[in-house]
Amino acid sequence: MKNLTHAHAEDLAHIHSLIEAPWEVPWSCQSYAELLSQASVYGRGVFEAHSDSLVSFILYQAQETEVEILYLATLLSHRRQGIARNLLRFLQENYARIVLDVCEENAEALQFYDHLGFVKIAHREKYYKNTFHAFVLEWRR
Ligand SMILES: CC(C)(COP(=O)(O)OP(=O)(O)OC[C@H]1O[C@@H](n2cnc3c(N)ncnc32)[C@H](O)[C@@H]1OP(=O)(O)O)[C@@H](O)C(=O)NCCC(=O)NCCS
Repeated sequence: MKNLTHAHAEDLAHIHSLIEAPWEVPWSCQSYAELLSQASVYGRGVFEAHSDSLVSFILYQAQETEVEILYLATLLSHRRQGIARNLLRFLQENYARIVLDVCEENAEALQFYDHLGFVKIAHREKYYKNTFHAFVLEWRR
C-alpha cells in the first residue's frame, strides 16, 4: 500500500467517476487536488502490483483521535477481495472514532460498514442531490 499523496488526483477522480449510482456526485480532479492539499486530509490507496494502477482508495480527514471518511471506493473489477476492508482496518488501528455519511439506498456500502462494526447514529434528510437520505455511521474502538 502506498500513501495517496504519491498518486494523482486524476486517478481518484477517475475511479469516482466510474461509480454509477443515482445519489453519486463525482468530484472533479480539482476537488481531489484541493482536498489532498489540506494538511488534515489524507489518502491511502491500493495499487495493482503488475500495472501499478490504482484499484481502491480511502480519503479521510483526521483530527487527533477522530477521523471522517470523505470517500472510499474499489474498482468494480476488484470488489469482494477484502481490499476496502484492509484500508478501513488501517484507520481502525490508528484512530479511536470514525464517522461518515452514506446514502440510505447504498446497500453494498451499508453492508460493508455493518460488517466492520459501524452503527447508525443519525439520519439526514435529502442529504444527497437534495433527494436521497443519508445515515451517519460511527465506529468506536
Ligand atoms: C463499499 C465498497 C468500497 C466495498 O469495497 P470492497 O473492496 O469490495 O470491500 P471488501 O471486499 O473489503 O468487503 C469486506 C466485507 O464487506 C461486506 N461487503 C462488501 N461488499 C458487499 C456487498 N456488495 N454485499 C454484501 N456485503 C458486502 C462483506 O462482508 C465483505 O466481506 P466478504 O467478501 O468476505 O463477505 C465498494 O462496494 C464500492 O466501491 N462501492 C461504491 C463506492 C461507495 O459506495 N463507497 C462508500 C461511500 S463512502
